[in-house]
Amino acid sequence: MTPTQTDTTGAWTRDRLHELVSDRLKGIKLIAVSNREPYIHTKSGSQIQCKVPASGLTTALDPILRASNGVWVAHGSGDADREVVDHRSRVRVPPNEPSYTLRRVWLPKRIEDEYYYGLSNEGLWPLCHMAFQRPKFSLNNWQSYREANELFAEAVLDEAAGQPAFVFIQDYHLGLLPRMLKRSNPNLMIAHFWHIPWPNCEAFRAFPWKQELLDGLLGNDLLGFHLRYHCTNFLETIDRNIEALVDTEHRNVSKSGHITAVRPFPISIDFAKHVTTAASSAVQSATLEWSEVIGTAPEILGIGIDRIDYTKGIPDRLNAVDHLLEEHPEYVGRLKFVQVGVPSRVAVEDYRRLNEDLAAQIDRINRKWARGEWKPIVFVRRHVDQVALMALHLMADFCMVTSLHDGMNLVAKEFVASRIDGDGVLILSAFTGAARELTDAVIVNPFAVEEVAEAIHLAINMPAVERRRRMNRMRAVVSSNNIYRWAGKIVQTLSGIDNTESAVAPDKFEEMDMLATVGAGR
Ligand code: F6P
Repeated sequence: MTPTQTDTTGAWTRDRLHELVSDRLKGIKLIAVSNREPYIHTKSGSQIQCKVPASGLTTALDPILRASNGVWVAHGSGDADREVVDHRSRVRVPPNEPSYTLRRVWLPKRIEDEYYYGLSNEGLWPLCHMAFQRPKFSLNNWQSYREANELFAEAVLDEAAGQPAFVFIQDYHLGLLPRMLKRSNPNLMIAHFWHIPWPNCEAFRAFPWKQELLDGLLGNDLLGFHLRYHCTNFLETIDRNIEALVDTEHRNVSKSGHITAVRPFPISIDFAKHVTTAASSAVQSATLEWSEVIGTAPEILGIGIDRIDYTKGIPDRLNAVDHLLEEHPEYVGRLKFVQVGVPSRVAVEDYRRLNEDLAAQIDRINRKWARGEWKPIVFVRRHVDQVALMALHLMADFCMVTSLHDGMNLVAKEFVASRIDGDGVLILSAFTGAARELTDAVIVNPFAVEEVAEAIHLAINMPAVERRRRMNRMRAVVSSNNIYRWAGKIVQTLSGIDNTESAVAPDKFEEMDMLATVGAGR
């Protein structure tokens, strides 16, 4: 049964994406590329385990690759990765339901350190996020970034074998790849999604190799950001730094006869799958396991779930909990805040320091407020699987997503999707992409401790009717703007682009949008 037969609401589903991909790509190979791989093979004694890494990006792309039987090119980072691949560094995944090919790229240790930890995460990451963390740049890191991009290019070109293919590149690690690919195989249609914010052009001025990076990105046929605002920042950055024609109205850049369309595509999650899992008995069992971690069930439970990253605003959030207890001592002994912190990029000094500072801060706050067995903050510093996270979502009275700056933030959407009971309050930073869609959250400035503390007070005291009204509206938004819509819009847009024309007609995109909606409603 096709989605057009089953679905008369125009909703984006896995089947509808599958149909679109088959129709638009018409047998053309789909090659996705990212630094992070979707499945990592690691050694555990004499056994080899296959794990799914903690990454919003891989969660988002996996269903798309499954729908298209494509190839995913990514850095092989597991210590058993080489043992399971064939002579072309390929392995079929997922292991229990092989649906697509993972092609691994091997990066020498020095290149990995300088390209991933160095240029990508000590340079571009702080440059693009306004978290007031100074970016660090070094020529060695930049050269390794170039070399790593070349290694990815070799693998993609090998997969395409000189034929047309639709290449879908992910994120800030691969900024030079589009140009490298286009130069070698002009038949490739290339889309690139930049998962983090694009800074304003004043901030971008600090980047020492501006022209080369921007030229790399203009090898794309389509360049996507979460928000219109990031597209505007990018177009202004091009305008100020590169010899290219920028059409701000239609968001196109023309350079040497080639057009790059720059468009917003807010990323999301697989809402339907999330809802099904949240209702499963596995989630109910996981609730019992949390009781052991949290101890005596508190009257009020707040949660935060993040990679331990300075952009996530974890210390500011904990200060807000501390401030709340100062201002509202009635919560002492009644409120517990569970912070899940997934260790991330700990080889980078700023991340290592954040881990140490957090441990000290939590200890200080807990000592200050401890009453017998009770302490306000429970810190869970480890990777927690999706099922356990859903259980935590469902137990919470409120969830805090208070990033200092975030391209989108899928934790906010996951919390909303898990709330099959239609209850719970989301406290959300105004500086996340998610805040543009989830306007029924309690929106805060994460830098303003007093404001965030008051938001917690408001969340705790929000009448049930109001909580449910807000939650149900947010659920409707995430249900409709789901991951299949994100991917579908990108495929529709890219397959509609004729980059040999002197400009991409803007109404072409709107028209395609309408056709897609009409088609789905047939
Ligand atoms: O938010 C940007 C991003 O690259 C995501 O796409 C990804 O889930 C997250 O950061 C984690 O990144 P890493 O691959 O460095 O663990």
